[in-house]
Amino acid sequence: MDAELIIIEPRFADKIALIKLNRPKELNALNLQLMLELKSALTELDANNEVRVIIITGNEKAFAAGADIKQMADQSAIDMLRTDQFSTWDQIRKTKKPIIAAVSGFALGGGCELCLLCDMIVASETAQFGQPEIKIGVMPGAGGTQRLPRAVGKAMAMEMILTGQFIDANEAYRIGLVNKVVPVEIYLNEAVRLARQIAAQSPIAVQLAKESVLKAFEMPLQEALYFERKNFYMLFATEDQKEGMAAFVEKRTPDFKGK
Ligand code: CAA
Repeated sequence: MDAELIIIEPRFADKIALIKLNRPKELNALNLQLMLELKSALTELDANNEVRVIIITGNEKAFAAGADIKQMADQSAIDMLRTDQFSTWDQIRKTKKPIIAAVSGFALGGGCELCLLCDMIVASETAQFGQPEIKIGVMPGAGGTQRLPRAVGKAMAMEMILTGQFIDANEAYRIGLVNKVVPVEIYLNEAVRLARQIAAQSPIAVQLAKESVLKAFEMPLQEALYFERKNFYMLFATEDQKEGMAAFVEKRTPDFKGK
C-alpha cells in the first residue's frame, strides 16, 4: 500500500493528531486505497492514549472532491456490491474520539459526506460544499441523503442533493452545516485551537458525550434519554469526575487523567 495517500501528524504535546488527505493532483478524490488508509489511521489513533482529538484535513484547494469517479466509472452494480466500498466508511462513524474536519476548498460528494461523518467542521472562507452526484447520474452513497437532512433540514438537503449545486462557506454556516468560518490562512490553526479545547477535558466524559449526541440521530428520544442518563451516571465511576468537581469547589483548574 502506498502510505502517502494520507499523512499522519501526531501532536502529542497537545494530545491531538492531524490526518492530512494527500492526493492533491486528484483534489483528494477518495479512492479505495485512501479510504482503507484512513480507516486504519483512525483505528490506530482511536486506540492511542496520547491522542484525545483527531483532525482530518486536506489542502487549501480541496478537502476532498468526492469518491474517485475514475475508479467507479466502469463498475457494474455487482462489482459495487461485492467491493462494498462504503463499508470502509463505517469505521469513521465508529471512532470514539471526536473528529474535527478542517475544510478549505472543495468538499464535494464523498468529501462532503466525510465532513458529515466528522463531529465538527471548521471551514475556511474558500470552502465549498456540495453533493453533485446527481450531475453524474447517481446519488450520494456514503450517508449524504441521511446525514445532510439531519444536519441542515429537509429543504436545503433536498435542494443540494437534487440540483448538485455547491454552497459556499458562509451559506454552510448560515444553515448550520459548519461550526465556524475563518480566513483561509488560519483555518487549520482554528481547528487545532478547537481540538485543544476539547483535549483539555476529561477524555472519558468527552467520549461518552460524543456517543450520546450521536444517539440523537439514531434512536427514538425516550431510549436516547435513558442512554444519556446511564452515561452520565457512569461518569461518577471516574477519577476525572472527582477531580473535576473537586477543582470547581477548590477554585482551581482540573487536571484530567482519563481515568
Ligand atoms: N474523482 C476522480 N478524479 C477527480 C475527482 C473525483 N471525484 N474530482 C476531481 N478529479 C480530478 C480531475 O479529473 C482532474 O484530473 P486530471 O487532471 O487528470 O484531469 C483533477 O482532479 C483536477 O480536477 P479539475 O481539472 O476538474 O479541477 P477544476 O478546478 O476544474 O474543477 C471540481 C474542480 C469542480 C471539483 C471538479 O473536479 C469536479 O466536479 N469534480 C467531481 C466532483 C464530484 O462529482 N464529486 C462526487 C463524486 S461521486 C461520490 O462522491 C459518490 C459518493 O456518494 C461517495
